[in-house]
Amino acid sequence: MGTALDGAAHEKINVATLKERKVRRHAITCLTAYDYAVARLLDEIGIDIILVGDSLAMTMLGYEDTLSVTVEEMLHHAKAVRRGVKNALVVVDMPYGSYHLGAEEAVRNAARFMKEAGADAVKIEGGEKRAEVIGRVIDAEIPVFGHIGLTPQSVRRTGGYKVQGKSMAEIDQLMADALALERAGVAAVVLEAIPREVAAMITAEIGVPTIGIGAGPDCDGQVLVIHDLVNLTFAPAAKFVRRYGDAAAEIGRAVGAFRADVLARKYPGDAESYHLPEETRRALEVVLERKRALGR
Ligand code: KIV
Repeated sequence: MGTALDGAAHEKINVATLKERKVRRHAITCLTAYDYAVARLLDEIGIDIILVGDSLAMTMLGYEDTLSVTVEEMLHHAKAVRRGVKNALVVVDMPYGSYHLGAEEAVRNAARFMKEAGADAVKIEGGEKRAEVIGRVIDAEIPVFGHIGLTPQSVRRTGGYKVQGKSMAEIDQLMADALALERAGVAAVVLEAIPREVAAMITAEIGVPTIGIGAGPDCDGQVLVIHDLVNLTFAPAAKFVRRYGDAAAEIGRAVGAFRADVLARKYPGDAESYHLPEETRRALEVVLERKRALGR
């Protein structure tokens, strides 16, 4: 147990805890973080799972989508997050191209996230068609989170970020995907952008926890991208996002005030400056006085 910002004790989370939470119907909280400071805050507040999502391609690195981010970039951010986290489960996204060539490549890259970044688990997008690869990663003692529904790494093939699972055929496929991931042994399944009714059905059907994002309130847990939650995205929010804060406004206000103070020579003030010890100050005065007398 660790003591958090709010003074409450938070339990150390592992993959077994998540299973217990599902059985006890105790909701699971998950947010993304990509750096030490935010990860530390989330951990101290008691968020259960911290996801180093490949969404960092957009939120932190300014790419258009998640496809460009590399294993090295994910490792860089995952290491920083790990240093800030004591109790939460740290899950790292396997980026596009790091598991698509087959199981060997997937295990090699997943093991890097475990050994070099200290991840507790990795997340891999895809259902039935990735189940074999995911099973091999789990065989290598690496816990895996599945991710089905809207899978952002497929955006070029699917042609956009669209709600999935709206037809009977798509619902059948989603259920088959969830069951295949459960059979492969995943620790949890992220359900992204699917109708509430479908997410509820999958959550009732499978024994592993579901973590929803745009999948309604009946999932075992909920995840959001932290930049969505605090308005740091420079874009309108998706339907499922609730903005709990306005960091853009707060940072804008603080930076604007700093700029105005510097321009008006109101920052820093004397109280924000370092001063010489009295003796040195007097000696310096004498030197300056001499220079003035010599006209220098
Ligand atoms: O990369 C990410 O942030 C994610 C969440 C949307 C679940 O995968």
